[in-house]
Amino acid sequence: MSTEPSVRVERRPTVVIAITGASGALYATRTLAALLADGVDVELVISDYGRRLLRDELGATATVDHLLPYLTERYGLRGDLGRITLHSNRDLGATIASGSRSCKAMAIVPCSMKTLAGVAHGLSRNLVERAADVMLKEGRRLVIVPRETPMSLPQLKNMVLCAEAGAMVLPAMPAFYQSPKTLDDLADFMAGKILSALGFEHALYPEWTGRVSGP
Ligand SMILES: Cc1cc2nc3c(=O)[nH]c(=O)nc-3n(C[C@H](O)[C@H](O)[C@H](O)COP(=O)(O)O)c2cc1C
Repeated sequence: MSTEPSVRVERRPTVVIAITGASGALYATRTLAALLADGVDVELVISDYGRRLLRDELGATATVDHLLPYLTERYGLRGDLGRITLHSNRDLGATIASGSRSCKAMAIVPCSMKTLAGVAHGLSRNLVERAADVMLKEGRRLVIVPRETPMSLPQLKNMVLCAEAGAMVLPAMPAFYQSPKTLDDLADFMAGKILSALGFEHALYPEWTGRVSGP
């Protein structure tokens, strides 16, 4: 047995972000940009329909290959940013497929009803589902941001199953009491909620200070 003192490697906080094919790409990019700006390292996995969503909703410059330059320019990122490690959704041997890779938390944003079903039933058919399963089995924070309307009974039940398994279900439901003026204001609100749920402080929306008008 070695008598050398063990060396502790100080790592920056790491979170897993998964982007799947539900509407709301802006929620994902705002969340990613806020984490990177906070110096958080991100393990990123994007489903095939998540890739399509980025292109369809944000345009040709928001492809996976150009995501960091896109985020840097769109959100004016500067300074000591966190790093992105991109994983293939087909790679079930990726680091984040194992509980031994200690990630603080994971968010699936946005989360399609298909991926929601896969997580609810522990299917682990791809890396998004497997990484989510790892979070649940390790008792770590998993934030699911589903988007669909209206919702079927199986979809509602799948959200209950995820909540019962320990996930936080945080539906993509921006609020209007902060008087949003732009789509970015709405995305800021959702990203702020997601950062709070992941355990990070943020200034993406002002704290509610009380009533603005009487009852
Ligand atoms: C433009 C577009 C928008 C979509 N929006 C949603 C949505 O809001 N919610 C949803 O559950 N599925 C939505 N879908 C369907 C999913 O993308 C589809 O079920 C896909 O198989 C999900 O796979 P994934 O979870 O691996 O990304 C959308 C598909 C397209 C092409």
